Amino acid sequence: MINFQYHNPVRIIFGKGQIAQLAKQIPTDATILITYGGGSIFKNGVYEQVKTALAGHKTVEFGGIEANPTYETLMKAVELGRAEKIDFLLAVGGGSVLDGTKFIAAAIPFTGNDPWQIVGNRAKITTALPLGAVLTLPATGSEMNYYAVISRKETHEKKGLGNPLVYPKFSILDPETTFSLPPRQIANGIADAFTHVMEQYMTYSVRAEMQDRMAEAVLLTLIDEGPKMMANPTDYDAAANVMWAATMALNGLLAAGVPTDWATHQIGHELTALHGIDHARTLAVVLPHLLEIKKDTKRDKLIQYGKRVWQLTGTDDEVVAGAIKKTAEFYESLGIPTKASAYPVTEETVQEIVKRFVERGMNFGERADITPEVVGEILELSL
Ligand code: NZQ
Ligand code: ZN
Repeated sequence: MINFQYHNPVRIIFGKGQIAQLAKQIPTDATILITYGGGSIFKNGVYEQVKTALAGHKTVEFGGIEANPTYETLMKAVELGRAEKIDFLLAVGGGSVLDGTKFIAAAIPFTGNDPWQIVGNRAKITTALPLGAVLTLPATGSEMNYYAVISRKETHEKKGLGNPLVYPKFSILDPETTFSLPPRQIANGIADAFTHVMEQYMTYSVRAEMQDRMAEAVLLTLIDEGPKMMANPTDYDAAANVMWAATMALNGLLAAGVPTDWATHQIGHELTALHGIDHARTLAVVLPHLLEIKKDTKRDKLIQYGKRVWQLTGTDDEVVAGAIKKTAEFYESLGIPTKASAYPVTEETVQEIVKRFVERGMNFGERADITPEVVGEILELSL
């Protein structure tokens, strides 16, 4: 096992009716900026629950944070937050609202002249406003981690930022808030969480048995409970299990003491930046093909995964092939295509992405052997 430190300060408040806990979590004298997306919270009663819980607090609102939140939109919230002298942020929505709010929390007190530099961690931040979250879409793990992924319309870029200063103080996870999710978003959430586990598990063994078994538990939970949530979006227990699994998939615990990959996400972000494809859908286009190209270096883990998660039997070669096939079939079973040709992705897109990785001068993957050339091979295979 690799040495590690693990510290996660996010208070998770989980369960039915728990939005009512909000008032106790935020100082009564705070001016709160409530942030939200395109309006789903008005249709499913979440907004009302939040406003009722915060009746004794001063609140200001900022809506319109889009899926794949943009710098351009978020800077309007930064202006509002500064003008209103807010001192606490409350994100109400999915990963995009949470991520966008993390950026706003860091950008309001930022004194440098170009806040875009916060994204990609190019400018150091020394402080951020406190934030909390009411999560309505299980997928990203943003509710219990310190990452945010922000897009810039002007340049078609999508980049991450990560800083412990933007950990939420608390996140409220009421599975009933997910009852209004359309099937596409439920599927996306399951696929995203599944891929998060794979990024931290499908590497090489360092005999980290706890981490491997926990990763397998999250995968098995998503495989068992995901289809139940898809079939019946108001099945509380299915929603609760998927919601907690998605949080566990990316709260840092699975990555502690093990090598991680993350190449699928790096490549996927480029597909979203260039073609606007939903985040989770880009991952399904990349991962099965990445596993095919990297099946020799990931061989032992593919065998372990094939046997323990998919109960495959046969020769090692058969288990490896079966494990990759099962992964692709899982995405497809959620209605998510695994071929880039399902989208307007062309040879030109592949060349542009390879060029971007060459410019960045970075390799990816647990062995840093996913060079820009290999990225090209993976995408070619997916066409
Ligand atoms: O905007 P509203 O009207 O709220 O509608 C949203 C949006 O259209 C809707 N929705 C959310 N909750 C709902 C609901 N509709 C009905 N009922 C509900 N309860 O769903 C749509 C998608 O929402 P979004 O927040 O974009 O989805 P998701 O949670 O999948 O977040 C995706 C974003 O998170 C980033 C992605 O790159 C992408 O930008 N990620 C963040 C990560 C992190 N912070 O650690 C890691 C991930 O790998 C990912 O990159
Ligand atoms: Zn993801």
